[in-house]
Amino acid sequence: MKILVTGGAGYIGSHVVNTLGENGHDIIVFDNLSTGHDWAVLYGKLEVGNLEDGSHLNDVINAFRPDAVMHFAASIQVEESVREPLKYYRNNVANTLNLLDAMDHNGIRNFIYSSSAAVYGIPDKLLVDEAVPLHPINPYGASKAMVETVLGDIARASDLRYIALRYFNVAGADPKTRIGQAYLDATHLITRALKTAQGDFTKLSIFGTDYPTPDGTCIRDYIHVVDLANAHLLALDYLMETKKSDIMNCGYGHGFSVREVVAAAKKVTGINFTVEEAPRRAGDPPQLVADSTKLRSMTGWQPLYDDLEFIIRTAWEWELKLKQRRRQP
Ligand code: UFG
Repeated sequence: MKILVTGGAGYIGSHVVNTLGENGHDIIVFDNLSTGHDWAVLYGKLEVGNLEDGSHLNDVINAFRPDAVMHFAASIQVEESVREPLKYYRNNVANTLNLLDAMDHNGIRNFIYSSSAAVYGIPDKLLVDEAVPLHPINPYGASKAMVETVLGDIARASDLRYIALRYFNVAGADPKTRIGQAYLDATHLITRALKTAQGDFTKLSIFGTDYPTPDGTCIRDYIHVVDLANAHLLALDYLMETKKSDIMNCGYGHGFSVREVVAAAKKVTGINFTVEEAPRRAGDPPQLVADSTKLRSMTGWQPLYDDLEFIIRTAWEWELKLKQRRRQP
């Protein structure tokens, strides 16, 4: 199939492009390289462009005529979204409307959308299924929920079909160490822990130790980025076959506490880095674990890397490679 991938030079997008390429799909990546990298695009052609530029987007879609569009390009930092909401509504909502416009203009009907568990806010259920009401608590989550609403409305009014995948905590890197997360200011727990192990930070803060969880720290459902990439391919197959729009959680269905992740990071790296207990970070739900029954039963998805130490090991190997690369002139 011919697939247009926005944000395909970024962390998650580049892993999906790799999986699409390995499965013989024809790909154009549309990315402004604001956080992505040209070296991360292992398959297909990279078109450097901004989603704000509707006429560029239209030309690319018109020339390529993709069977489907996968949309990863977005701003993704929760804290930044609180400080700069306009940026999030512009990049995540307005730019998605430009993309949907360009698709509509060219009669492209199939869409895979990167949504997030952030749409749930602080759910009152331990295992979150897709029917849990959406109560996002920050502009990032709100922007993702808004686009889901837009997609639902457009799909009801036209023949657009879409799958929105709600990602839980995506982590790890390509097991062949060719690509991985490469933001300089990454704030995610596993990346921060590994950068602390490498000496980039003097200590790792545990944000909150008084949560109502067994060890007092927050629990998250960490999913390996390659398993997430496979979910995209299966979701695309499902969409093309059934022509039915849907929304599916992407996670393993069980979680680890911050303390458990820290212990695993120390074990994998062999480095006893410094950890401090710090106050809670605003807006963190105590526990966020996916009920991924829908993804499994509807697409046949079966995770390959449901193993926290493996996730951390692939991320660690990638961090070591990144550091080596940055040291080179
Ligand atoms: N944490 C620490 N110390 C750190 C970093 C994180 O204790 O240095 C804790 C957080 O407080 C949280 C847990 O580790 O309890 C996980 O935090 P992350 O920042 O790694 O991930 P989040 O769960 O906050 O965010 C993820 C995605 C977001 C998405 C959100 C949905 O990265 O894109 O889940 O809730 F919006």
